[in-house]
Amino acid sequence: MENKSEKLLRLRELALLGGGEDKIKSQHEKGKLTARERIQLLVDEGSFQEIDMFVKHRSSDFGLDKQKLLGDGVVTGYARINGRAVAVFSQDFTVFGGSLSKAHAEKICKIMDLAMKLGIPVIGLNDSGGARIQEGVVSLGGYADIFLRNTLASGVIPQISAVLGPCAGGAVYSPAITDFIFMVKGSSHMFVTGPNVVKTVTHEEVSFEELGGAETHASKSGVAHFIYENEIEVFQKIRELLDYLPSNWKETSPEKDFDFESELIIPELDKIVPENPNKPYDMKEIINLILDEGKFLEVHENYAQNIIVGFGRIGGISVGIIANQPAVLAGVLDINASVKGARFVRFCDAFNIPLLVLEDVPGFLPGTEQEWNGIIRHGSKLLFAFCEATVPKVTVITRKAYGGAYDVMNSKHIRGDFNFAWPSAEIAVMGPKGAVEIIFRKEISKANDPEKLINERLNEYTDKFANPYIAAEWGYIDDVILPRETKLKLVNTFQLIKTKVDSNPKKKHSNIPL
Ligand code: HXC
Repeated sequence: MENKSEKLLRLRELALLGGGEDKIKSQHEKGKLTARERIQLLVDEGSFQEIDMFVKHRSSDFGLDKQKLLGDGVVTGYARINGRAVAVFSQDFTVFGGSLSKAHAEKICKIMDLAMKLGIPVIGLNDSGGARIQEGVVSLGGYADIFLRNTLASGVIPQISAVLGPCAGGAVYSPAITDFIFMVKGSSHMFVTGPNVVKTVTHEEVSFEELGGAETHASKSGVAHFIYENEIEVFQKIRELLDYLPSNWKETSPEKDFDFESELIIPELDKIVPENPNKPYDMKEIINLILDEGKFLEVHENYAQNIIVGFGRIGGISVGIIANQPAVLAGVLDINASVKGARFVRFCDAFNIPLLVLEDVPGFLPGTEQEWNGIIRHGSKLLFAFCEATVPKVTVITRKAYGGAYDVMNSKHIRGDFNFAWPSAEIAVMGPKGAVEIIFRKEISKANDPEKLINERLNEYTDKFANPYIAAEWGYIDDVILPRETKLKLVNTFQLIKTKVDSNPKKKHSNIPL
């Protein structure tokens, strides 16, 4: 007869099999890993402690009473990543297609409640057919229980979602509320309604991949922050991301050792901005040169590429970088760039990650498409986010800082702590051409040689305004620095402002223009 220990070992073995050998084989054939394999690859070796392995669903309709599998389609527990504690759930597609029952939802909620009490990040590995159809509204209730927890945890602990299979219907909203979504090319799909419903309702023919695949969400919708070729890369990148983040809103990110004696003058920086102000250059070259070890974890790499956001370290301190990209649309701010930037600024502010702004922006994008779709409403999100942020905030203007965009991009007026400019900076209401055409319009219309007059006035305006010194005279720029001095300046500055304390007026919550 089986003794008590043997029974436990047998049950454990059964639970580890999930939906059984055949289902595991089919999961592998789809190019996907199992829920437990994923956790092993994500967390520090041997650190995973599973809980709720013996939970079963409590339904009996549609023959479910004869199909009760241990764990009920989700593996939950806690572990360490880079030595720090995290909570993890990983949906098991081999059990009812990873669909969410009441019991399955309760397991996820339990791990989230634990993470909130402990102040540790939650990582959700999603691979699910959605609500467990046989359970009906009880399953929908389970989703809502998770949505509520995602919302309450927002800004308290980092929440990271990896979508590693299907994620459809209302189920998409749990990852959507979390801070970052990772997807895998070819095997992850997210949509509110699938291709069949789309065809019925709008008569559009669209494939799974085109409608809700990783590349679609990384470049068109902006739903996915990171996409990779395979699951293993996803797990490596989640580990890398966590290294830049604190465990909760009360902590600061881990600081890395930094050799302060190393060479911090970087002459290559002098050569990046072209003489001709209308010529583009790649802001990423600057980013790579000023970040420690040239390491930059870009967020939303393929979406709204006219603004760059991501994480790196300066002098060992984790910082969030927001940079205009003159190589794409001249670095102009449009709706998507504003929303992308705003969300990133708010994430960093919520988790005490200092901000570094690299600015070269000709202004907001003109046109009916932008105006009618609400550039006023969306552009104000970025402004609001910078105004509201109380973390250490540093700006370096490399070239253009024109118009409202000058104010928005962490100017001194909205609590930029240190604002620097390179000698190539142009800080004014607008660029020389536009300005001359407006302020000298009458004079130009009457001139015998308008071309000559325009050129004279252009030179005059450029001399007077297209430089950083007027802003510096007013103290809006704290210092004008040579590009080569930037790293040295930033290392010193971020060390200095580590102790910054600032706050906003007491309120229930702000009303960001959504
Ligand atoms: C119960 C489900 C299920 C579900 C899949 N399964 N989805 N069981 N509830 N929602 C089961 C299947 O019956 C099958 O069981 C096993 O999981 C694997 O599914 P397959 O269809 O064989 O896998 P695959 O071909 O890879 O297709 C995956 C899939 C498809 C695209 C996810 O299963 C599918 O379309 N499922 C239904 C999706 C859906 O409409 N869900 C409800 C969305 S609405 P057996 O025993 O045969 O292996 C929703 C609302 C949330 O989720 C609202 C929150 C507010």
